Amino acid sequence: MIKIAPSILSADFLNLESSIKKVLKGADLLHIDVMDGHFVPNISIGLPIVHAIHSKIKIPLDVHLMITNPDQYIEDFAQAGSDILTIHYEVCHHLNRTINHIKSLGVKAFVALNPHTPIFLLSDIVEYLDGVLLMSVNPGFGGQKFIANSISRIQELFNLKKQKNPEMSIAVDGGIHIGNVNKIVEAGANIIVAGSAIFKSDDPLKTIKTMKGTL
Ligand code: DX5
Ligand code: ZN
Repeated sequence: MIKIAPSILSADFLNLESSIKKVLKGADLLHIDVMDGHFVPNISIGLPIVHAIHSKIKIPLDVHLMITNPDQYIEDFAQAGSDILTIHYEVCHHLNRTINHIKSLGVKAFVALNPHTPIFLLSDIVEYLDGVLLMSVNPGFGGQKFIANSISRIQELFNLKKQKNPEMSIAVDGGIHIGNVNKIVEAGANIIVAGSAIFKSDDPLKTIKTMKGTL
């Protein structure tokens, strides 16, 4: 089953509740981008927003931590209502420990890779993960162009998944729209994160349905 995770980075922040409600009937997860202005050159959403969404809206929350020091905040984001916590490989020195910590809190543990980070670096951790989030743009902003070699990276990760952890999810994040979602899923992704393609469209729910219809 392919899951669609609308990224609220492109939602209307002054009308966040109604913006989210527009996609609820089609979304499988809600993707929330947390940025610290240090790991990535942008600052976005923090704990109070995750907590507020969790308290009002019943949809699994997929929280993508683009922050330099994820260990410091894992318990807070778990408590705020995250169902998935994604940390970046590039900032995590003791990944095995951090993954165990996330899972011990009853939260699914995903690791994200920037577009330049080789897939093989995950080969000794992949069996312990609930999922991998492959960045198909440089993280930090919505509305960027899909980086073409992400397709072969998804295929490489899919091979690793088959060998070591067939249950694991492969999420892809950045530059995904109706025109390219099909080849991303064909390459092996089962969670599609899309921000601008969904929230900036005239009818976000219809866009999700069209995306699903192309698969
Ligand atoms: C980028 C974020 C993405 C972003 C994707 O750093 O991780 O989740 O919202 O936006 P689009 O789909 O517009 O590329
Ligand atoms: Zn993201």
